[in-house]
Amino acid sequence: MTDVVLDAAAKKTLLRKIPHGVFICGVAEGEEVNGFTASWVTQGSFEPPLVVMAVRADSTSNGMIQRTGRFCLNVLRADQKDLAAVFFKPQKGVGGRFEAAPFQLGALGLPVLEDALGALECELVGQVAHGDHTVFVGEVKAATLHRDASALELSATGWQYGG
Ligand SMILES: Cc1cc2nc3c(=O)[nH]c(=O)nc-3n(C[C@H](O)[C@H](O)[C@H](O)COP(=O)(O)O)c2cc1C
Repeated sequence: MTDVVLDAAAKKTLLRKIPHGVFICGVAEGEEVNGFTASWVTQGSFEPPLVVMAVRADSTSNGMIQRTGRFCLNVLRADQKDLAAVFFKPQKGVGGRFEAAPFQLGALGLPVLEDALGALECELVGQVAHGDHTVFVGEVKAATLHRDASALELSATGWQYGG
């Protein structure tokens, strides 16, 4: 470890410059499905196709991904900010957020939202558990495209998640 002093304000300002999308990550375990809003997402490899996503270490979905080795990413339409808000608020029971969004189970048994642009279903191939989020690496095994249009971007929502 170096003894360099981190400039916390500069770190925060610069990290918030990283552009992000807004997705609904879907998970399933037994009869139970869950979903949450995720913005810390990027592609990690062309071949095999990999995606990288950071998930709060203490969230319900983190444990479900660890135990099942699967997750999917639903890509939202540019006008689905209200739906993204449903999926980051506390819910009464696991999976309750899906009352706002009809879904079907995809090829890997993961919740694919009918009204989103589409979904990528992934198998977990690696992870780094070091900070308050776990960095998961998933290999894309199935892709469902409902329609091709503009996707929701974090910069358009006025929300911050980062820094
Ligand atoms: C704009 C925004 C982006 C978010 N991005 C992430 C993310 O990338 N990873 C994450 O774990 N949580 C993220 N969250 C928080 C989760 O959506 C939230 O903690 C959710 O309640 C977790 O649900 P769960 O406990 O049912 O899994 C984000 C929240 C907001 C408002």
